[in-house]
Amino acid sequence: MKEIYNQIWKLAKPYYEKGRPMDIGHVSWMMVEAEKVCQAEGLDDSLLLPLVILHDVGYAEVPNDNPFKIDMRKDHMRAGAEIAERILGDMNYPADKKDKIVYYISVHDNWALGDDSVYEDKIMSVFNDLDFTWIVAPNGLEGLADILEKSLEETLKWVENDDKPDRRPFATETTKKLFETLLEARRKEVRG
Ligand SMILES: [Fe+2]
Ligand SMILES: [Fe+2]
Repeated sequence: MKEIYNQIWKLAKPYYEKGRPMDIGHVSWMMVEAEKVCQAEGLDDSLLLPLVILHDVGYAEVPNDNPFKIDMRKDHMRAGAEIAERILGDMNYPADKKDKIVYYISVHDNWALGDDSVYEDKIMSVFNDLDFTWIVAPNGLEGLADILEKSLEETLKWVENDDKPDRRPFATETTKKLFETLLEARRKEVRG
């Protein structure tokens, strides 16, 4: 991991410690995968990595509740954009990139509001692939099962029936393959 991203992560972590219990694992996993996708697909990591690292910091400043509630979605995006603006500003991150990243964070879960238009942007589309794919990462399914208060089998079905691939098709071969490989691994674990 590039030093600059470790620095952003260090500044973001205290917020995640106050946020949702699974987010440290969620974001650490996404950071590693995002770096690999950038290398494999020749993408600009200077936007994707900070977006990944900072996207859910806003949960630190919203009351602990079900993240599937619409108001919580909106509030964590708004609060997250403000925190990201402060962190990247303090680090003197290039202003044009900072503004883009802050904007991305302010709309990163717009799919939950019924608006998929922001994912026409490649960085946002790859981001959404990874944010969604975490559900089938080694600890992701348990994390989601806790939130949904469902069994692993029910949660797996929930993932399989999600309309993400139709509404927001995987942006790259790398992220598509990653999702399929991990989904298969979770199927084997849960169903044998
Ligand atoms: Fe989010
Ligand atoms: Fe997330």
